[in-house]
Amino acid sequence: MNSKDRVPASIDADEIGYNDTPNEHFSAVLEQRISRRNLLRGGAASAASVMLGTLGLSACGSNNDAPAATLPIAPVTPVPPAEKLLGFTAVAKSLADVVVVPAGYTASVLYALGDPLTATATAFKNDGTDADFESRAGDHHDGMEFFGLGADGKPSASAVERGILAVNHEATTNQQLSSFFIHANGGTNTLPRPAAEVDRETALHGLSMVEVRKSGAKWEYVQDSTFNRRVTCLTECEISGPVRGNALLVTKYSKDAAKTRGTLNNCGTGKTPWGSFVSGEENWSGYFTRGAADNAARGSDKSVASLNRYGRSQGAASRHGWESGGSDDKYARWNNSKLGVSADGSDDYRNEMNGMGYIVEADPYNKAKAVKKRTALGRYAHESAAFGKAVAGQALAVYMGDDSRNEYIYKFVSTAVWSAADATPADLLATGDKYLDSGKLYVAKFAADGSGSWIELSIANPLIAAYAGYKFADQADVLVNARLAGDAVGATKMDRPEWCSVNPANGEVYFSLTNNSNRTATPSSSSALVPDAANPRAYTDMKGTVSQNGNPNGHILRLKEGAAGSTAVAFTWDVYLFGAESGADAGKINLSNLTSDQDFSSPDGLAFSPSTGICWIQTDDGAYTDVTNCMMLAALPGQVGDGKKVTLTYPTSGTGTLAVDTYVGKTPTPDTLKRFLVGPVDCELTGICETPDGKALFVNIQHPGEGTNQANIADPAKYTSQWPASAGYGAGKRPRSATIVITKNDGGRIGS
Ligand code: FEO
Ligand code: CA
Ligand code: CA
Repeated sequence: MNSKDRVPASIDADEIGYNDTPNEHFSAVLEQRISRRNLLRGGAASAASVMLGTLGLSACGSNNDAPAATLPIAPVTPVPPAEKLLGFTAVAKSLADVVVVPAGYTASVLYALGDPLTATATAFKNDGTDADFESRAGDHHDGMEFFGLGADGKPSASAVERGILAVNHEATTNQQLSSFFIHANGGTNTLPRPAAEVDRETALHGLSMVEVRKSGAKWEYVQDSTFNRRVTCLTECEISGPVRGNALLVTKYSKDAAKTRGTLNNCGTGKTPWGSFVSGEENWSGYFTRGAADNAARGSDKSVASLNRYGRSQGAASRHGWESGGSDDKYARWNNSKLGVSADGSDDYRNEMNGMGYIVEADPYNKAKAVKKRTALGRYAHESAAFGKAVAGQALAVYMGDDSRNEYIYKFVSTAVWSAADATPADLLATGDKYLDSGKLYVAKFAADGSGSWIELSIANPLIAAYAGYKFADQADVLVNARLAGDAVGATKMDRPEWCSVNPANGEVYFSLTNNSNRTATPSSSSALVPDAANPRAYTDMKGTVSQNGNPNGHILRLKEGAAGSTAVAFTWDVYLFGAESGADAGKINLSNLTSDQDFSSPDGLAFSPSTGICWIQTDDGAYTDVTNCMMLAALPGQVGDGKKVTLTYPTSGTGTLAVDTYVGKTPTPDTLKRFLVGPVDCELTGICETPDGKALFVNIQHPGEGTNQANIADPAKYTSQWPASAGYGAGKRPRSATIVITKNDGGRIGS
């Protein structure tokens, strides 16, 4: 590939903001000098993946053909081989434009961008002429959950051959304004954007529910299923919980602040103990624009501080320019400026952005029911929502992260205590009302001694009530501006909290901290943070000749609640794994001693299998992609405290040093961590769920080929990826985000 065929390495599309609020955590800034290392790493694509380079999907290595029998033998009852979790052969790092899985496994494309979801929608041509995306799969498949259907078509928690996949469609691929792979000529990159282009792009965002079933040995999606559904970023949603009806959400569309249009930039997911789907709204703020003089128009009221904190300072341009699509209200709503004369915002969209940024809940089985925004869980750049173990008579805990540099980790604790009868309710969303509309929201503070605390974000907290940075009116205001409340109480600024998941074996909570380019031992700006115990690394990693500074490879932190369980306000923690190149300095960077079968960078998707207990780790990386495409690993972790204390020492600019104590989990072995899958070029791995028997694993491949220079839209030979067409799926050669299904050739559970 000629270098001009690829866009230059750029900022991660997910990395759009940072928290530079001087909360008390920041006051420990010391001047230091950054650590450096010499790069050591293995070769590029392995021989195995090169061998498979012409295949779009392949098992890594040979198949499982048995030798031919030479003698007649008496029939015997076959005895299945004993299952050994992580018994597969690790997949090598790969730069090939294929999905690589271990020998003995098969990966098949199931459901891709543009696939028709109604009986009458036409086959996807994939040449930029398709429209009607409200009737097709959305783009950028992300988090995903499986909801079983019995043979009778009724919900079934034990169904293994039929179900509904609820899929997030986070975004579309763009370098400038236009989502270039879905327009014939790449689309329009100047304002105003044509309405027809905007309509396609808005329809590609949101959620889809799609029926899937096993037909013989093969999984397929059901084009004409009555369960199929699209929710876009224009579909009416209900505001639920403490913020419903609050003045902060009054808009021209909803003068009573009870509804809004759409769910947007949906990233991680979750499944509630009562069997509904939850989805996190992540980088929604970038879709709105604000006028250059909007601060003055607002009279510099407190909304300005809120908008600035959530990434929309005045003059901010929108990601796609959707506000320019025409005079219709569905375009105007993307302009977040004060344009009207009303005192309350009921004649414009000055408050529109306050309707985004929530965990939303949907009934995957009933498309007549509106999606509900669960405002009690706070407003920020949500990823997944992981429920602690539901115990009868105890409150439910929901764990969540805010994915921006230097943002926080949160916990919601329900007011209602769990009733086992609610595991199979008649009305999923009414049960959601019970558990998710009332409770306490906490933010995490990590201490250097391996302990931590949950700080309640309550208007009754004097640090919040008297916060100089923002005058909170009430508890709803605290929830809408949870980031500001976190600032007020001095929460710990983290290295971009991505997904979280609860280990079913012991209830410990795992958080991906994907990376942080702002972590530095020599801070020179308000957004830079020195290493601390929970985010202890600041180093330089080389990508070719480019220095990548901060914590470019990320880590996975885990915490163990105190004796009070879901309602505990104290916990202990350690770092389960540090992402690193296997050849990196084991004393400063590769602290988990990852081998070449285990090394990874920028953990993102993270989910424990309810069936096997395997912890699946998916990457969304730009730091190690000179050596390997993004990947998925299988892990069998231990527990908080199973490793050791490590002290990292950073020289200061004077004669002193800064010593940072941290706690690293037990070094993984080949039996407890190995690479399972590598994806095609320029993709990220994200979204994972399974059938209840653990024998079908659904995984999303997001934005293959996103590095393609949009100027080359007319020349498929210059696309950095042609997957999944290269795997034999669908028409055209434009790359498409897609769901794959992985099965084991011997019928066993995935990961064994
Ligand atoms: Fe959409 Fe933070 O990943
Ligand atoms: Ca590197
Ligand atoms: Ca993500």
